Amino acid sequence: MITVFGSINLDLVVVLPRLPKAGETVSGPDHQTFPGGKGANQALAARRAGADVRMIGAVGQDAFGALALSNMRSADVDLAGVRSLTGSTGLALIGVDAAGENQIIVASGANARVDSSWLVGGSNAGGLLMLQGEIPFPETERSIGHARNAGADVFWNPAPVPSEDLSGLLEGITTLVVNEGEAADIASRLGISGDPDAFVDRLADETHAIVVTLGARGVLAGKGPDRIQIGSPDIEPVDTTGAGDAFCGALAAALDAGTAFERALREGVAAGALACTATGAQSSAPAKEDISRLADQIV
Ligand code: RIB
Repeated sequence: MITVFGSINLDLVVVLPRLPKAGETVSGPDHQTFPGGKGANQALAARRAGADVRMIGAVGQDAFGALALSNMRSADVDLAGVRSLTGSTGLALIGVDAAGENQIIVASGANARVDSSWLVGGSNAGGLLMLQGEIPFPETERSIGHARNAGADVFWNPAPVPSEDLSGLLEGITTLVVNEGEAADIASRLGISGDPDAFVDRLADETHAIVVTLGARGVLAGKGPDRIQIGSPDIEPVDTTGAGDAFCGALAAALDAGTAFERALREGVAAGALACTATGAQSSAPAKEDISRLADQIV
């Protein structure tokens, strides 16, 4: 069982000819509305990849709350741990350019008021707690303690990277997943090299798997003495929003099912690539069979 403690947003997406610079207005056609939030995206991606998933988080008591939960509800993600709080649901304003790259502004809303005590009794021995970076960091830290006490593994994708002290970065963490920018940010704050190879070499050991996603170049990972590099399959990107979340969800689902680390990474890479082929972070989260088929073809 995977427990996701994280953000739930409503995404307002506009496809643009190019992304705006500071102070600039760029117009696109109609906007589209999608359920989103890195926590919810990863929960849905893990569920579509075959895991049993429970979501713990919050939406606001506004017009967006039910919509933000709708995909998870249809996919049978357990939503008993999601609270409805006074105030607004998290909201993301997303621009997507012709190459599928995005720019995201987030209003945290109810995500800023989640509480790690909601997790007590929610993680289980042998299970996996998944965390991101869109809820308050102190709650993330406390939830790691709850999970470890319960005997659960902890999978952390610190996106965005918290501004707090990161000296205890890997305490209680089983798997850390970052992209190149996040690795560089964390590395500069820890005073280590942000080069992906060096980052993995420095932090990976027997108890901590370190994964750096490289976009269209695939992924680099380390666990104990093993180093693994997997290239990404060729795709025509339409929208890269949520590709990292699809990677995390599929990787976590595979690890939770006891899949070997290298194959689990391959399934994550396949899911991330497939997620770039449609607009919207959740609409593009791929199904288990499609992930497996593409993972088999990755050399
Ligand atoms: O990772 C993509 C997500 O980031 C979007 O769904 C948006 O809600 C933001 O949280």
